[in-house]
Amino acid sequence: MATSDQVLGRVLKTYDTVESTNDTLKELIDEGVPEGTVVVAKRQVTGKGRHGRAWFSPVGGLYCSVLLEPPEREAAPISLLAGIPVVKALRHHGVLAYLRWPNDVHFMEKKIGGILGEGVHRHDRFYAVVGLGINTNIPLPDFPSDLQGEATSVQHEEGLVSNEQFLSYLMQQFDSVYRRYRSGTKDVLFKDYRGLCTTIGKRVQAEVHGRKVVGTAAEVTPRGALVVVDESGVRHEVVDAGLRYV
Ligand code: BTN
Repeated sequence: MATSDQVLGRVLKTYDTVESTNDTLKELIDEGVPEGTVVVAKRQVTGKGRHGRAWFSPVGGLYCSVLLEPPEREAAPISLLAGIPVVKALRHHGVLAYLRWPNDVHFMEKKIGGILGEGVHRHDRFYAVVGLGINTNIPLPDFPSDLQGEATSVQHEEGLVSNEQFLSYLMQQFDSVYRRYRSGTKDVLFKDYRGLCTTIGKRVQAEVHGRKVVGTAAEVTPRGALVVVDESGVRHEVVDAGLRYV
């Protein structure tokens, strides 16, 4: 699946069923798997979303996790930038997806993918486990009631896709983003991110240190924080808060 100099996906571990691909990959770190290892499963029993939510993971969707060793020993920036390859892969398959900060993947205001990045410290090394979930081949009626009207799938928007081909393209794109990230061309990457993120320029409400802040989403910092400028012109950096458009 990987091109010759591609690091991501050079080791691919496939499973029928796991609890969560992120958790399986975290276990594999102890077995010494190399950077770029990808775990992919047909279904997850307890797929995890951000903020402790569950991720609906029936057969048909694409669930994978990628092992990285980012130089900055932080999982947040590369997890944010992982939105770029996900959007590119969806667009390649005909779905004009976009990002909602930090890395919710939407199409026509409905969620079609999500990213859960976790930092893992093991034996003096730091790893980022970046989990990607994409609603590829899931018929809309199969989504649970709380996701009806909130989520969509590639199958519904464009028709069935090959998860294998989707993953292969996704990893090529992610590899190129990660390469640029490591080589220090982060400014350009964040510019690319901003170009795909529709949150910039929107009026939002976020929670900063337990206080509600309302203002305009102005930019994303190189560490992945969202800068919200309130009515008095004060800049607030929002890190991993729930965000509402107002
Ligand atoms: C979110 O938007 O809340 C993030 C969803 C992330 C889901 C993916 S599916 C593969 C990986 N394994 C998990 O348990 N979660 C992530």
